[in-house]
Amino acid sequence: MVRVRIAPSILASDFARLGEEIAAVAAAGADFIHIDVMDGHFVPNLTIGAPVIKSLRKTTELPFDVHLMIAPVDPFIDDFADAGANILTVHPEAGPHLHRTLQRIRAAGMKPGVALNPATPASLVEPVLDDVDLILVMSVNPGFGGQSFIASQLRKIETVRAMIDKTGRDIMLEVDGGVDPETAPKAIAAGADVLVAGSAVFRGGAGAYADNIAALRKGG
Ligand code: DX5
Ligand code: ZN
Repeated sequence: MVRVRIAPSILASDFARLGEEIAAVAAAGADFIHIDVMDGHFVPNLTIGAPVIKSLRKTTELPFDVHLMIAPVDPFIDDFADAGANILTVHPEAGPHLHRTLQRIRAAGMKPGVALNPATPASLVEPVLDDVDLILVMSVNPGFGGQSFIASQLRKIETVRAMIDKTGRDIMLEVDGGVDPETAPKAIAAGADVLVAGSAVFRGGAGAYADNIAALRKGG
């Protein structure tokens, strides 16, 4: 059975203590650190950029799974590589040349990912399957933490799982938004192998993080 990876989204952490929060989820069993970068234009919210990620790089050796909700992406690719991002995921709607963007991400030494919004069809990723290491199915509309899981996205996860299996390549299938102990088993059953979770990990204080992470993994 595939080992499900858990990627806590630091969006739900205490931003006054970001470094400590990352160390705490790392100690609690996280596999990746999911970092949501928003520009207030591609999505209606603003978060952090490459300089903050660079400072956080010294707090953990866990891979940084950076989810860009910005447009354009291309002018910032090198900044994120320099900041220490390991996976760089982009939305196809963020620019006119997805294939070129993915190639640039790989050329900069990172794993390229594509994120599909709830209304974006799975077929959009098909022409670039050879160029991605991760496909992110959004189970909420991007921009905010704490939203409810959109159940219709389970079918898209199944479709993407079938596409990935057909390639024989090792492409991660990540789900992001409203993932909690109730929705996680459904996402895993549909074929997801990386679960992003903000609210469901960062609740109850640092003493609860290990139990919160273990509860998400259960469905696997
Ligand atoms: C939403 C972000 C998510 C968000 C998830 O735009 O991409 O990563 O932080 O938060 P929860 O798990 O609270 O839905
Ligand atoms: Zn995200």
